Parts: sequence; structure tokens; C-alpha cells
Amino acid sequence: MSHHLSKPILAIESSCDEMAAAVMTEGRLVSEVVASQAIHTEYGGVVPEFAARAHQVQIIPVVNQALQKAKIQPKDLGSIAVTQGPGLLGSLLVGNSFAKGMSLGLNIPLLGIHHLQAHLLANFLEKPHPTFPFLGLIISGGHTQLIRAERAYQLYLLGSTEDDAVGEAFDKIAKTMGIPYPGGKQLDDYALQGHAERFSFPVTVMPGYQFSFSGIKTAFRYLIEKESKENSNFVTDHLYDLCASVQATLVKMIIIKVEKALIDTKLSTLVIGGGVGNNRAIRVALRKLAKQYNIKLFFPAHHHTTDNAAMIAMTAHFAWQQGHTAFDFGPMPRMELPLITSK
Ligand code: KG4
Ligand code: ZN
Repeated sequence: MSHHLSKPILAIESSCDEMAAAVMTEGRLVSEVVASQAIHTEYGGVVPEFAARAHQVQIIPVVNQALQKAKIQPKDLGSIAVTQGPGLLGSLLVGNSFAKGMSLGLNIPLLGIHHLQAHLLANFLEKPHPTFPFLGLIISGGHTQLIRAERAYQLYLLGSTEDDAVGEAFDKIAKTMGIPYPGGKQLDDYALQGHAERFSFPVTVMPGYQFSFSGIKTAFRYLIEKESKENSNFVTDHLYDLCASVQATLVKMIIIKVEKALIDTKLSTLVIGGGVGNNRAIRVALRKLAKQYNIKLFFPAHHHTTDNAAMIAMTAHFAWQQGHTAFDFGPMPRMELPLITSK
């Protein structure tokens, strides 16, 4: 099946707890819809079974809304793109099954898209956009990765986290202080009013380009438990300083590896993807680093750092341009496509 690049692509994202759909025509984003799932806040984290069920309810209205906003009918579509992985199996199954059914019904091709590749390519929704090759940094709720990107479909994994993702660390640390899930953004807001030098936490430096965030999470919990025994108001008394200090440590752990990768690869462009890319301290530290090494730095628009379908559409656009298509697939929770190889 061929696709006419002039015809709209419908993109669907359902890998975690965001149900999203977008329409793109000739590389231009025409419409997008993102529906969050409030249910997880009650449980202090994403409950996979609830996420899948919520996707099941949300998928038809969200897709319809994206089509309506784009002022098109299903029959006008040229192809469908869907997040194939990585992500939660149940959540992925909803999006993949729906997309497969729709592509069969309309007799148009279906593309499976890699979620993390899409987080990086979200930067191409902006003007000006980066040029290849570049160093990619994914900092999300589920992943922390450094990637050498030679082309849109030629990505090499340099390193990743061995335990928690950095966003996960933000959220778990926030939870320790009683901040509701996902607490990363709130922690960032509180940190704005605090002193980063007030408390010190261990800086974990793993070999190569590997990361580890479970140590700081545990150290933080121990500090809270110990201090709260003497002062039950310890967290409230020091909330802002705790946030600023722990955030500064997390940022430092990221920056150490980014700096090493910049030196080693000699790449002159740095591209950020994922929700933690919204963090103020990370943005400041990365800008400083970019200035120091005289490199170009790119962030997606704020609403395209977290999970969305516009980035899936953008990646599908690259796929069609470069002749990468996959027509028969199912969800891959731990997706490591040949396009992302270790090197
Ligand atoms: O990219 P994303 O939707 O996650 C995955 O695809 O896994 O990003 C969500 C993550 C959450 O952990 C959230 O707390 C974090 O990004 N986040 C932040 C900020 N905004 C979002 N973390 C720290 N500071 C922020 N301003
Ligand atoms: Zn994501």
C-alpha cells in the first residue's frame, strides 16, 4: 500500500496515561487533542489496568475530535500512525488494535512508531528546528536516555537509566513530601522559592553514559524519616529548600552525562525530549552548558514535551519521506526497534 504524502496522516498515542490524536498534512500539524486520565492521581501513580480501560473509553471521542478539528472525514486520510512502543502493554493494545481496525476498514497503510524517537522528533514541529546529526536527551516519566541521532531513522543508544527514570525520581521524591502524583511540576514550582545549597544529597555517577536515580530517591526518604522523628513539621518547615536542593542534585546528575557525551561525540547540536524538559532548573543548566560548549540547543514547545500525538505524526511524516514503513505489527512494551541500536 502506498501513501500520498499530500494526504493527511492520523496519529494515535496511547502508550501510558495520555490518550492523544493528531492530524498532519504535508508535515504541517493540522489538529491535535490530548486527554489526560485523572484517575491515577488517587493512586499516586499510573495503574496500568485503569490506564487501558480509560483509553478504551477515550479513544473514539479523541480521534473524532482530532478529525473534526482538522475538518476532515476518515475517508480523507492517507495513512494512520500509532505508537507501537515502548509503553504499557494494555494501553498500547488499545491504540494498536483501534488503529489496525481503522486502517483495514479504510484500506490505508498503518505505521508503528517508536515513542522515544517521537519525543526527540517533536522538536521538528517547531521553527527553527534542529538539523542532523545531534545528541538527543530523553528525560521523561518512563525513560532517561542519551541518543546519538544521525538521521530521523538512524538512532544509536549511548546510555540509559539502570533503575528509575528521572521523571519517576521527581515524582517519587515529590510523593515522599506529600505532593500528589505526578509531582515533578509542583516540585519545580516550590524549588523556585528555595535555596539549593541548604541540603546535600549523594550525586550518583554511573560508568559510561548510564544513569541511576534510585540512590537519591532512597537518600531523600531516609532524610525525611530521620528529621521527621525530631520535628514532625520538618517537610512543611523546609519544603522549598528540600525541593530546590534535591532538584539541583537531579539536574547535576543529568548535566554530568550530557557534558561527557558532548565532549566524546563532538556533536554541536543538543535536542531535548520528554516531560522533564519543562523543568526550569534543567533548562537553565542546559542553556549554560550550550553556551559553554557553543552548541545549538533545542526544546520542543512546552505542550509537546509530554506525551502527545503531534510527535507521533511528525515521526510518521519522516517515515514516509524516508521509506520506512511497517504494515504488520502489534504492541511492543519494551520496544527496541532495529532503528534504535546500541553502539
Ligand atoms: O514525557 P512524559 O509525558 O513521560 C513519559 O512519556 O514517560 O513526562 C512526564 C514526566 C512526569 O514524571 C512529570 O512529573 C515530569 O515529566 N515533569 C516534570 C516537570 N514537568 C513534567 N518534572 C520536573 N519538572 C517539571 N517542570
Ligand atoms: Zn513519553
